[in-house]
Amino acid sequence: MSEIVLTARDLTRHYDVSQGLFKPHATVRALNGVSFELEAGKTLAVVGESGCGKSTLARALTLIEEPSSGSLKIAGQEVAGATKAQRKQLRKDVQMVFQSPYASLNPRQKIGDQLAEPLLINTGLSAAERREKVQAMIKQVGLRPEHYQRYPHMFSGGQRQRIALARAMMLQPKVLVADEPTSALDVSIQAQVLNLFMDMQQEFNTGYVFISHNLAVVRHVADSVLVMYLGRPAEMGPKEEIYSRPLHPYTQALLSATPAIHPDPLKPKIKIVGELPNPLNPPSGCAFHKRCPYATERCSTEVPELRPVDNRQVACHYAEQFVA
Ligand SMILES: Nc1ncnc2c1ncn2[C@@H]1O[C@H](COP(=O)(O)OP(=O)(O)OP(=O)(O)O)[C@@H](O)[C@H]1O
Ligand code: SF4
Ligand SMILES: [Mg+2]
Repeated sequence: MSEIVLTARDLTRHYDVSQGLFKPHATVRALNGVSFELEAGKTLAVVGESGCGKSTLARALTLIEEPSSGSLKIAGQEVAGATKAQRKQLRKDVQMVFQSPYASLNPRQKIGDQLAEPLLINTGLSAAERREKVQAMIKQVGLRPEHYQRYPHMFSGGQRQRIALARAMMLQPKVLVADEPTSALDVSIQAQVLNLFMDMQQEFNTGYVFISHNLAVVRHVADSVLVMYLGRPAEMGPKEEIYSRPLHPYTQALLSATPAIHPDPLKPKIKIVGELPNPLNPPSGCAFHKRCPYATERCSTEVPELRPVDNRQVACHYAEQFVA
């Protein structure tokens, strides 16, 4: 078995939010008990509606925010209790690409210098050696040598996302967390940029956590899929299983809302009805029960545990009934 580069155990992140002057503070359980393992060179895709906790998970995995509880191991190193030197190493081992490359690129610095910066800070390479490495990376992401001297605003959106990826890859991280990296781009160039992400993964054997609300994109890039609903995992497993036989009614609904290239006339269409519940006041029992076509009495009182069913994990009381 190949190397495990990322292990999340019961990761949880709660936010205290003010509800106004004379009201008590409330707690948003943005992330609630997420566990998974990621192998080198593999991609875990995280999907779910807006507000389900995808970016919160990304911030916890990249050490931007501390989890409220749970544990995280990056490249074999436990994050909690890491020394300052170990933490510095961890920050190199896990990198992030955001939806907007402006979040990772400095508008006032030439892109060559921005790509060289991680090498300047973290390696003993000479200026000439850094330049050489940066030029090699510029070429690798499909840009030209003269781009070294240019500023971010001189590039197209797709090129900027190539540069953001190049920067994230400069120190050959073990893990790359990409939060909707192509959703702000024109559809016509999304595929090229996605292919570049996949090429870079092959080249460096990086483990990817790939966040997207686009199930067609996920199908293209993922090895395994984590479906989130209101901060909790609804279903997680190998991509083929999830796409060919989704067991959680929420996954079924997400997939039947995705246009298929060859729609299966025998598969029932499930529509997600109703609004996404207020995360400050989530429904009792199964958080999906108010929108679920199969909900029973039990669903409104008993929280379904995530458990193994048919080669994946599902948090639904009746998952077995959906196994074809
Ligand atoms: N700093 C914060 N303070 C309070 N609540 C927060 C904070 N960050 C996120 N939340 C809440 O946590 C929940 C999860 O948010 P998150 O941004 O992780 O969702 P998301 O899945 O990334 O959504 P989107 O698809 O819109 O990017 C939301 O209800 C959000 O309002
Ligand atoms: S536990 Fe009940 S409400 Fe939740 S997804 Fe399963 S059937 Fe639907
Ligand atoms: Mg987000």
